Amino acid sequence: MSLTPHLFVVVGATGDLFSRKLLPAIRSLVADQDSQVVVLGVATGDLNDESFRATSRLDLEAAGATGPDTDKWCDDFLHYEQIPKEGDYSALADRIEEIEREHGLSGNRVFYLALPPSVFPIAIERLGEAGLAQSPGWTRLVIEKPFGRELESARELNSVVHRHFDESQVYRIDHYLGKETVQNLLVFRFTNPIFEASWNRDRVERVEITVAESLGVGERGGYYDRAGALRDMIQNHLTQLLTLVAMETPVTFAADAIRDEKVKVLRSIRGINPDDVVLGQYGEGRIGTELIGAYRDAADVAADSDTATFAAIRLDLDSWRWQGVPFFLRTGKAMKERTTQIAVTFRRPPICLIHGKSDGCIEHSDVLHLTLQPDEGFSLEIEVKEPGDSGRLRTIPLHFSYSEAFGDIPEAYETLLADVVEGDQTLFVRSDEVEEAWRLYTPIVETPFGPHPYPAGSWGPEAARDLLGPDVTNWATAPQ
Ligand code: BG6
Repeated sequence: MSLTPHLFVVVGATGDLFSRKLLPAIRSLVADQDSQVVVLGVATGDLNDESFRATSRLDLEAAGATGPDTDKWCDDFLHYEQIPKEGDYSALADRIEEIEREHGLSGNRVFYLALPPSVFPIAIERLGEAGLAQSPGWTRLVIEKPFGRELESARELNSVVHRHFDESQVYRIDHYLGKETVQNLLVFRFTNPIFEASWNRDRVERVEITVAESLGVGERGGYYDRAGALRDMIQNHLTQLLTLVAMETPVTFAADAIRDEKVKVLRSIRGINPDDVVLGQYGEGRIGTELIGAYRDAADVAADSDTATFAAIRLDLDSWRWQGVPFFLRTGKAMKERTTQIAVTFRRPPICLIHGKSDGCIEHSDVLHLTLQPDEGFSLEIEVKEPGDSGRLRTIPLHFSYSEAFGDIPEAYETLLADVVEGDQTLFVRSDEVEEAWRLYTPIVETPFGPHPYPAGSWGPEAARDLLGPDVTNWATAPQ
């Protein structure tokens, strides 16, 4: 793919996000093309072009992108500009024009804020005040999650953004939307009418979305202890997945048509009943053979922290399609396995026609499992009769695996960066989506709940299973 020539300005280029994700993604996107994509790293650190190129080479080496071409690319296309901790961005504006002249660029610019959320507003203000929200070409602003801590701060952030940038210039990244399997949800639903015809309350009994991580909080305790599972995962990644599962058919596949439908889903979700929320916090335990320390003992976490590292929530949608179908979201750190799955459990047959020889009526629901990571694929569980006269049925998966069909899957950041440059906002979160999601979760994040303890290496607190209701014995996604 050939990218439109542009200047890619990363504000916060000495941070982890740039070195681990953005730089390797940009390098991979431009590796096979001659187009002029020039990177300007910007930060308060005392670096220059040369030292920035040297650290970038090491970062690329760590990411597996090495070789003479890569070294030359760093020398030819990477620049660095130190910005003041206090003060304006006028020197940055001058440097941008200088680099564009040097490389013969026509003023197409991406500003990527790879910064701690607390400094988003000030960085956006300074870009705007320095006249950098407009350029002779196009200018686009990329912001990483979290977009605010609750409804009020999300609104404030949106208003700072809109003071300087038009919404059509803004790309709010939720990296889950860049995952190939997540994008395929829409294709799966809207190009296979056989499923879409059953995608409603007449056929579906319940929907579960689980994002389980097998790592603890690691070195991110400082950030995580203020965020917790609701802010870090539920409000954004899991809720985005829900909107894609639940949305109506868009009028077209254009960005705003899709985002309009996602917003309608968010608006249809009933206010959350606190009894439908189970929070947890991991204690010491083993994941495989590795001993994981308790969350409260992690670096930069308060010794008496009540931050939830696990959350399970039941949501009900007041919509024609989904009335009476509960949606369950569940996520946790330090869980038994890493898996992201959506399970759509279909209704049982209305009467019981098939009886086993000894076990009476055979109760069964077909379940569609969409595994988003790892082992990306689909599997539809159906019942078949065992051969012979045992009278038994067996649940058999009809299975599709991405890796068997296609081999490697592109990294989410590559997809998203290419979309920013091509001006496609479909996979980015619009301001009203952010605010609607916060409207839903703000009462919950602001209510103090005591998290249930669970051992690292488990599927979270037992209480989460009770959320499913008296008739359901276990989660269809990663059973406890
Ligand atoms: C990030 C969260 O947005 O997503 C992290 O801040 C989490 O806490 C990560 O670990 C999960 O992303 P992935 O792509 O590894 O599932």
